[in-house]
Amino acid sequence: MEVASIARITRGVVAVVATVTLAAACGGSSDDKKSGAATGELTGRGPITLAQGKDTSGNVQNQINTWNKAHPQETVRLIELPESADQQRQQMVQNAQTKSDAYTVLNLDVVWTAEFAANRWVTALPKDQFTLSKFLPSAVQTGEYRGNMYAAPWKTDAGLLYYRKDLLQKAGITTPPKTWAELQTDCSKIKGVGCYGGQFDKYEGLTCNFSEAVDSAGGTVVDAQGKPNVNTPQAKAGLNFLVQGFKSGMIPKEAITYEEEDARRAFEKGDLVFLRQWPYQWALSSKAPKVKGKFDVAPLPGLNGPGAPTLGGHDLAISSFAKNKATALDFIKYLTSENTERLNLIASSEAPTLASLYDEPALQQKFPYLPTLKASLLNAKARPQAVRYNDVTTAIQEAVYGALTGKTSTDQALADLQTKLGPLTQQ
Ligand code: GLC
Repeated sequence: MEVASIARITRGVVAVVATVTLAAACGGSSDDKKSGAATGELTGRGPITLAQGKDTSGNVQNQINTWNKAHPQETVRLIELPESADQQRQQMVQNAQTKSDAYTVLNLDVVWTAEFAANRWVTALPKDQFTLSKFLPSAVQTGEYRGNMYAAPWKTDAGLLYYRKDLLQKAGITTPPKTWAELQTDCSKIKGVGCYGGQFDKYEGLTCNFSEAVDSAGGTVVDAQGKPNVNTPQAKAGLNFLVQGFKSGMIPKEAITYEEEDARRAFEKGDLVFLRQWPYQWALSSKAPKVKGKFDVAPLPGLNGPGAPTLGGHDLAISSFAKNKATALDFIKYLTSENTERLNLIASSEAPTLASLYDEPALQQKFPYLPTLKASLLNAKARPQAVRYNDVTTAIQEAVYGALTGKTSTDQALADLQTKLGPLTQQ
């Protein structure tokens, strides 16, 4: 074929694509309108998808099965993304940038709301259709951006100290440690088991573990005015707890590669006395042969007394580019309804966002850790709500990882981080 005719065909294809794109931009075909695609309206009914990280408990699929039985024309398909929070975000961002309709409901990490809302990758939700007063206010806030609701609070999260109560008892220790010094003293009495684990791989979990260390030493990564505040004695004390932890062997060296699931496996193999971890581990470790019945949870320890966990969690949003948004809205209401949240707590031990569930006697009996979890959630500190959150967390991860691996000193890492975070948090 001649070059000229290839050029003509190519131009033709470009013209067709351009027309289709223009039609979509002008409101789309009538089919698109019926399905609710490419509009901000929550219209359209039919099959949808839910995109999220790994369904560790298997209960998301169970709840989808229940929904699908009742809604044969509006079925939901679960799309499991990678385990790591950063990789999940990357796939969701790519999906949004190509305006793909592959993901309908997005299970957004609480730190992504601002970015997704500001870029209009997710559609605003009707606040009045959710009884937000029944949800934990901290969780509700994570789904909001500039006063609008973009994501419904589904699962909240806060770091907890998992500990081997059998090993503590054997060593004559009756209560879990409230300070880092106590934790170290406890470990010195227990031989042959790693002392403390957390999530120290270079990803979002590291940002959480670092923020917790800073907050637990009385500092704050970003202050109430949104300005970075990491070049402080408190932040240094926090980071040093981790840096010295690796140097002294208090934290086993392999923990530098740990994400949530690696840390859980290490604890369940019996390799750790203490582990900083999210609530979801409770249900899974309760089935793990080596540790079931032998562990408990406590609030995280801190420098001079109990520490302050980082607020985590996941909210449900609707992709702006998806079809069948009316179905998506109903599905989100179903997942965040009282009974669905209750059943999810029972099956997965994940922290519900509906406040009343923490006080139900039957649930407290099944999960004696619920009051500890509630107290930790009320004490939890949010990460910065920034449109450029990904740049913020990348800067934190680089600085902290450099210090933990001995490439930079704590002082240098924090001084550099302070400089880097300045422009990223001004918005
Ligand atoms: C948990 C938290 C989430 C956090 C992530 C880090 O999934 O709920 O907020 O960003 O862990 O790995």
